[in-house]
Amino acid sequence: MTKIFNRRIALFILILFVLPFILTAKEKVLKNKYGTYTLDKEKGVFQSKTGNFTIVIEYNKKSDLYIVEMKGKTTGYIALGFGRSKEMKDSEIILGYVKNGETFLLHEYGTGLYRHEPIQEKEKYIKLLNSEEKDGWTFIKFSRPARIKGEKYKILQSGQTIEILYSLGAADAFKKHMERGYIPIILP
Ligand code: HEM
Repeated sequence: MTKIFNRRIALFILILFVLPFILTAKEKVLKNKYGTYTLDKEKGVFQSKTGNFTIVIEYNKKSDLYIVEMKGKTTGYIALGFGRSKEMKDSEIILGYVKNGETFLLHEYGTGLYRHEPIQEKEKYIKLLNSEEKDGWTFIKFSRPARIKGEKYKILQSGQTIEILYSLGAADAFKKHMERGYIPIILP
């Protein structure tokens, strides 16, 4: 009798304290052959399987801006693409590099399967927030409005799934990448 009673108490404690944690666990993990993406409420983190590329993406509700940090093991360029139709086509690409202490950040569009060109834009939507080239790594932090009007821009909406591309090149100018990959992510 006491045994059953104790079991019931144990079960009650389990439901009361453990279940809410399980049900409210917000972390989501997406994996593919290129790496792992972890979404934890306000922040999404992609880590490439090679360990050579990291993307941290956050949404600032107040300013309606996405804040993105990308870090790649190169003194050349690092790049991130939002969406695509095939290969690199129709991807909205942000590429950056640091050369002689100066940072270059470009906003481009995948105009062909293996081709991208600068977006002719009235306003500079991609804003550089921070950057560094150190010990063989390049780091760039930028902001991008969640919504930009125009067919070259992807709509970024919290909770939405979008495929991202990443790449890093050995040189500053944009020659073919030495590493690249893609993964569908859920936007924070
Ligand atoms: C001058 C610049 C670039 C050239 C010449 C180029 C060329 C190519 C070529 C020839 C391929 C197919 C062969 C392969 O898989 O390696 C490819 C694939 C790919 N590229 Fe690029 N690329 C360039 C820039 C970029 C940038 C900036 C990104 C990302 C932001 C990117 C992302 C990718 C991805 C993800 C794939 C694999 C596509 C798939 O397998 O579905 N590339 N690129």
